[in-house]
Amino acid sequence: MIKIKAAVLGCNGLVGRQFARLLDEHPYFELSCLTASARSVGKRFGETIANGRSLPLSEKTASLVVRETTAAAVMQSGARVVFSALPASVAGELELELRQKGLFIFTNASSHRMDPLVPLLIPEVNAAHLALAEEQLREFRGFIITNSNCSVAGLAMVLKPLTVFTLQAVTVTTFQAISGAGQRGVAAWDILGNVIPYIADEEEKVRRETKKILGTLAGKQIRDHELEIYPSCSRVPVKNGHLQSISVEFPKPVSADGIAAALSGFTAEPQQLALPTAPHQPKLVQKNADRPQPPLDVDAGEPASARGMAVTVGRLRSQGNRCSFFLLVHNTVRGAAGGCVLNAELALKKKLFKGE
Ligand SMILES: NC(=O)c1ccc[n+]([C@@H]2O[C@H](COP(=O)([O-])OP(=O)(O)OC[C@H]3O[C@@H](n4cnc5c(N)ncnc54)[C@H](OP(=O)(O)O)[C@@H]3O)[C@@H](O)[C@H]2O)c1
Repeated sequence: MIKIKAAVLGCNGLVGRQFARLLDEHPYFELSCLTASARSVGKRFGETIANGRSLPLSEKTASLVVRETTAAAVMQSGARVVFSALPASVAGELELELRQKGLFIFTNASSHRMDPLVPLLIPEVNAAHLALAEEQLREFRGFIITNSNCSVAGLAMVLKPLTVFTLQAVTVTTFQAISGAGQRGVAAWDILGNVIPYIADEEEKVRRETKKILGTLAGKQIRDHELEIYPSCSRVPVKNGHLQSISVEFPKPVSADGIAAALSGFTAEPQQLALPTAPHQPKLVQKNADRPQPPLDVDAGEPASARGMAVTVGRLRSQGNRCSFFLLVHNTVRGAAGGCVLNAELALKKKLFKGE
């Protein structure tokens, strides 16, 4: 198979680095363009991420020279697929420009997530929403496919298999890692030994994005899921991994064993298609009473190319019509770069785009 040339926008950031790791020697995509801010342009990528020493990269990727973050620089590189890890303030206009030029954009930025023509995609949850990308292709030469907020990625993944019991309401409290705020996101002075019970706009994102992702495609539109969502979001001094305490309400009594079986037995198209970044088992149920814990469970997922792509559920309990549990999701992998790469793998396999 001839690999398709790919660009990563915002390559130096916490998400951009994960993109570089995942796309380095990827079977479908060839990393041909890396972009960042003016302070990095013209430097070797290996030099700009010198403080990311643990990143295993080929010499070819490490020696790519960082380009300007402009449509012209991306077009000049010959890239057909674009992975965006830019702040939303920069991503919005540029992603529209690249779509107009016929490129296929897979983005982490929040700018276009609620656009009615843009799929907010998690391949195990709402692959059918890819039909919206086909609608974009009728109107533009390219398309934009977004992935969700990092907490929502985990939440929607566990709610999907539970829809068989009929979802009525979910209460979720998040304990989000500092990496979720980006490279320069939270000052050490503010977060060390602390919990901050506020993340700007996060609770509204959890509510509206989850309802869109679990929604149904009706013609050319998504009809939001009706479940009630009550989120509270906090920042904790953890490096990677968003832990969430979740309580779901159903119309009838449920058993913890029934919920565990629905979660651990769930697979979907990415597993059937054996996509390179798809975990064999997307949801792992931990029996140990004190798990999941971010440092121990954040990299869950088999095979090695899907590390960090599985979510882990633990402390599963039921009480009448409710079940409660903890959930852990890797925010920069499943909740960002890995989710985006899986979206691109699915879109390619479903022939939404090709290299030429
Ligand atoms: N972190 C997460 O867990 C997470 C999860 C889901 C979604 N997201 C979203 O993913 C995106 C990236 O997040 P991140 O955590 O990787 O952020 P980050 O660590 O702050 O990295 C941002 C990247 O964008 C580049 N950049 C910043 N301003 C720029 C400008 N004006 N022009 C060109 N490039 C610019 C930076 O380049 P320099 O390094 O050269 O300055 C850097 O490479 C954001 O939209 C974020 O909301 C993040």
